[in-house]
Amino acid sequence: MLTNLNKILSDARKGGYAIAQFNFSDLEVAQGIAEGASEMGSSVIFGASEKAIEYAGIENLVDIVKNLSEQFSQIPMALHLDHGKTFEICQKAIEAGFTSVMVDGSKHPFEENIKLTRKVVEFAKGKDISVEGELGMVADLKKLEIDKDAIVFPTGEQAREFIEKTGVDALAVGLGTAHGLPLPDERIHFAVLKEVADAVSAPLVLHGGSNLPTFDVKKAVKMGVCKVNVDTELRQAFTGAIRKDLKDKATLDPREYLGDAREAIKQAVIRKIKEINGEH
Ligand code: G3H
Ligand code: ZN
Repeated sequence: MLTNLNKILSDARKGGYAIAQFNFSDLEVAQGIAEGASEMGSSVIFGASEKAIEYAGIENLVDIVKNLSEQFSQIPMALHLDHGKTFEICQKAIEAGFTSVMVDGSKHPFEENIKLTRKVVEFAKGKDISVEGELGMVADLKKLEIDKDAIVFPTGEQAREFIEKTGVDALAVGLGTAHGLPLPDERIHFAVLKEVADAVSAPLVLHGGSNLPTFDVKKAVKMGVCKVNVDTELRQAFTGAIRKDLKDKATLDPREYLGDAREAIKQAVIRKIKEINGEH
């Protein structure tokens, strides 16, 4: 069943659990995500970034997830634009069939971020599309190497005002994690999470969810994180499986190494869902 974030996350904060978003840009990764989530009996969010859209074509990404949602009809699935930087890309995703969008205005000053996010929420309104906004900043690895202060932490008051003025359904919060491979001093700043979680009741989103200590991920979920975004861990699983096959086997058949890589994605998805929510 293809649905939006609200339906998937509606009970998450009260229930103290989170749903994983896994990013994809090709068929085999998407299939592995659907197979893993289905084996766990868990709802799942397919994340597609602007780069994924450029790479695969927006219609192809929509069709892949639509087909998988019919094939695994017992599992609620959402197709979510990840880090949409402009109103135009959010509009394009919604018109193409995405059920949810993230508008990432975190690089803008607070008031401009509110304006951009509000515009997307207004466009999505009445179309059964959910919107995630971002406050504070999730840094990326390259940026952090240049500027250790690239991570910006929001206050509880800012989060409250942002949600009130924009009407977003979910809020990504800069908590000290970064996209990509782990940094030596990367960690979740729980004091920031507590302040924001105390101030707002919306589902909170943890970006940079790969390769964090399991204990910390579970603790963040108990404190109000309802969506954990994962990309790098799947890339590691997929690429690792292909590397191994190409080293070990003299094959010319892409179905052989891509099939093994798809299985590696499935196992990584199962591991990650267990990490986030225990065995449920
Ligand atoms: O939006 C995507 C995620 O924040 C992915 O982060 O690559 O560190 O897992 P990750
Ligand atoms: Zn992210």
